Amino acid sequence: MPRLSDATRGRVLFGGDYNPEQWPEKTWHEDVRLMKDAGVNSVTLGVFSWAKLEPEPGAREFGWLDRLMDLMHENGIGVVLATPTSSPPPWMGRLHPETLPRDAEGRVEWWGGRQHFSHSSATYRHYAAAITEALAARYAGHPALTMWHINNEYCTFDYGDEAAAAFRRWLREKYGTLDALNTAWGTAFWSQGYDSWDGILPPRHAHYMKNPTQVLDFRRFTSDMLLECYTAERDIVARHTPHIPVTTNFMPLWIGQDAWRWAEEEDVVSVDIYPDPRAPLGAQNGALVQDMTRSQARGPWMLMEQAAGPVNWRGVNHPKPRGLNRLWSLQAVARGADAVCYFQWRQSRQGAEKFHSGMVSHAGEQGRTYQEIKQLGTELARIGGEVSDRHSVSDVAILHDWNAWWAGVQEGRLSTQVDHPAVLGAWHRALWEANVTTDFAHPEHALSGYKMVVVPQLYLLTDAVIENLLAYVRGGGTLVSGFLTGVADEDDRVRPGGMDARLRELFGIRTLHEWWPLDAGETVECDGFRGTLWSEEIEAADEVTETVPYKGGELDGLPAVLRRGRAWYVSTLPEPEALRALLSGIAADAGARPVLAGLPAGVEAVRRGELLFLLNHGREPVTVAVPDTHEDLLTGETVTDRITLGRYGAAVLKP
Ligand code: GLA
Repeated sequence: MPRLSDATRGRVLFGGDYNPEQWPEKTWHEDVRLMKDAGVNSVTLGVFSWAKLEPEPGAREFGWLDRLMDLMHENGIGVVLATPTSSPPPWMGRLHPETLPRDAEGRVEWWGGRQHFSHSSATYRHYAAAITEALAARYAGHPALTMWHINNEYCTFDYGDEAAAAFRRWLREKYGTLDALNTAWGTAFWSQGYDSWDGILPPRHAHYMKNPTQVLDFRRFTSDMLLECYTAERDIVARHTPHIPVTTNFMPLWIGQDAWRWAEEEDVVSVDIYPDPRAPLGAQNGALVQDMTRSQARGPWMLMEQAAGPVNWRGVNHPKPRGLNRLWSLQAVARGADAVCYFQWRQSRQGAEKFHSGMVSHAGEQGRTYQEIKQLGTELARIGGEVSDRHSVSDVAILHDWNAWWAGVQEGRLSTQVDHPAVLGAWHRALWEANVTTDFAHPEHALSGYKMVVVPQLYLLTDAVIENLLAYVRGGGTLVSGFLTGVADEDDRVRPGGMDARLRELFGIRTLHEWWPLDAGETVECDGFRGTLWSEEIEAADEVTETVPYKGGELDGLPAVLRRGRAWYVSTLPEPEALRALLSGIAADAGARPVLAGLPAGVEAVRRGELLFLLNHGREPVTVAVPDTHEDLLTGETVTDRITLGRYGAAVLKP
């Protein structure tokens, strides 16, 4: 199986989406000059080129792409070649309206934007396979080709008729009989029993709350359908070029795709990361996605897209202050990225993204954005040979599963304030601020290599997962779980007692009497800290080792936190400082230490192989004590005892 290292060949890939079809050919030569000056060694071509490649059904216009592929090769720039299937040409919708998806309200998603394709449409799939076949056949032997990029950010839903038929097929495959489906979906409720497969629909607009298991299965189905689109194209390119790695870019922590399953189908796991430069937790947000992607890749991964400056899809879009682009790029490398790429190379002058930054901004060569890109390119070239293909290792795993997320966001839940990614983010933040590097893991993965495993929230758990958690603790592991974990089985059926009995026993919970969600901004006093979002009326079992009680109010004296042996349960979301103290204390007892102790606030330390990355996320210079003597690979200087990092400063230290 080809790997990312087949494309990087000992370097960090540096470059981005390149959309030269938006520019006259003379600009291409200017682009190449600037790319070479900036150390760009990789461009992604063709992401949105379908109408240009196939201007009418069956036509092929490859001349312009031939010239570009040659131009890149002549200049030593590798090409990540995309299949253009995320934005079909207008003729497709006009001639084949069934290729257009419909939303839950039945509205058609017309052409004129992008991603207006139905994952279930046989016609769409036919045309997508044909253009992929033609591209693969034409460029299989081209020396510029380093990687395939299938589609772009798969993220569509379809509630239309062809999708409905595909949903029924998927359900038949899963359940076999209508009886099994009726049981799994709990259709005895509200008179929903199905007497015919033909009666089953996607969860379209309805008068009142929809069947939650139907919605859950529709999410599973959607992820699977999109994955089928991906694997169909992947198989085509892999047949032509078995030695060239294949990827598709994930959106960061997107709800629609079970990325664990998807990652298994990719040679290279890649992701797009766009933290808000103004967000106080932007760096942590990036770190979370980086940790997640590294874990899905089980090794080096590709930062496929980031922004050199502002994006243009937030309400207010802030540029990156000087130094921030470099810092966040090095943060990705520290956390395992072997590719630092952008959307996009040259900022567009037309189209919906003309105010979205590029590596070359409207200000051009003299602009600060390009000048900083150039500096970064030089630095990545300097460190590339040292970092690439090295692994970052963590002692702590955070468990995450899309099924649990999907089931947890249903209508009819007790609190809409509980936001799965926010809870995940809060737990990751606690460990990130304590400088404890974390992996993410699927809850069915082998966990025994970790000193501590945390479960911010896994509302839905299969029996296999429960057994995995029990075995982990039995084997000597330390487990910390947050609230709303183990509530439902895989059909989103509430487990007797409101939480699986085996888990209750594990944590020392005799009875979970009631859930007590909190209003927005409301807090609950606990002994030594305040809880937010949620609280629970729990009666501890006799075997419980330790509890931290709620103080005052309705839950006075009942346990907010329980420990039984090495298994902890936290029934509220402690405020950030308290969660940090709790988790770093448990981590220390479990033998999971911070990368570097005593770091100044805002400084992150990450190990990648023997290299130590120091990243100052603050705007003030800081001095960091470092053990032993190192060489800073960014400057070539020798560092003994301490190093001062300027505003947004970074160092890559080699012993
Ligand atoms: C995504 C897409 C790109 C572009 C950027 C803008 O990552 O893949 O095509 O739209 O967003 O931020």
